[in-house]
Amino acid sequence: MLIYSSNMSDITTDYADHFDCEWYRDTYYGSVCVEGALGKVVKFDLDNYHAIFQSGKVKGKRLLDIGTGPCVHTIMSACRHVDDIYLSDYTAQNRKALTDWWKSDKTMLENITEYILRMENSGETVTERQKTMKGKVRAVLPIDVTLTKPLGTGCDVTEFDIITSSLCLEAASRTLELYRRHAGNVTPLLKKGGHFILNGTLGESWYRVGDKKFASLNLTKEDIESTYVSCGFDVISLKHGASSEGGNFSDYHGYFVMHAIKK
Ligand SMILES: C[S@@+](CC[C@H](N)C(=O)[O-])C[C@H]1O[C@@H](n2cnc3c(N)ncnc32)[C@H](O)[C@@H]1O
Repeated sequence: MLIYSSNMSDITTDYADHFDCEWYRDTYYGSVCVEGALGKVVKFDLDNYHAIFQSGKVKGKRLLDIGTGPCVHTIMSACRHVDDIYLSDYTAQNRKALTDWWKSDKTMLENITEYILRMENSGETVTERQKTMKGKVRAVLPIDVTLTKPLGTGCDVTEFDIITSSLCLEAASRTLELYRRHAGNVTPLLKKGGHFILNGTLGESWYRVGDKKFASLNLTKEDIESTYVSCGFDVISLKHGASSEGGNFSDYHGYFVMHAIKK
């Protein structure tokens, strides 16, 4: 666990002991748009993921979601456009929450699923969409983006057609130099011509999980763009918004969704 000096002293990176996955999922994704903390950001992310996948141009066999956390909103639009989905997380309790969902009849994030089905004008029920998602999940993998081989040596799948990732790399990186290095660790997992869909926060140094503040990296839109250009991507779109409504939940100043293609 890293403890910061001065006014950052109450900020943790101890995911194993302090990341309360139920609190996190209920607070940030319990309800879309209106009641959920940071609901505006979640809506922005869902709308942009929907638009990217609805275009019909982003499809492939294998999708990896990096740092899935305890929640599966990133694959709700994507699942119709891929055959195999690999979820991943660094934290054991998040992998357990994902596996419990995958291996059971339980549903999660029902409000978010309904919101996405409405955008798609779909006749599917929440249960049907989540069954489709579960049917395509092939594994819940341990991952550490700080390693040159983030999936370790235990995973025989090494090349993905699509990578999605939500709010993970800024949580795993303490400096811009490390952020760039971690981006350079994960991008080789993508095939040439593959799609990278990434969403995150701008200007955030912490976010809340229960009574703990977790560290995040204060990034600008220019940091994001230059990082992925230097990793060999064409940035197709980088949508962003400004807001300082994090209150007790985060000190973020903005948010983004990037769609980039590996050259
Ligand atoms: C803010 S949460 C995001 C969770 C989810 N993707 C979402 O959109 O809400 C940050 C996630 O990054 C994961 N994480 C932290 N350090 C990591 C690392 N070194 N490698 C991979 N994931 C990491 C945490 O376990 C956590 O699930």
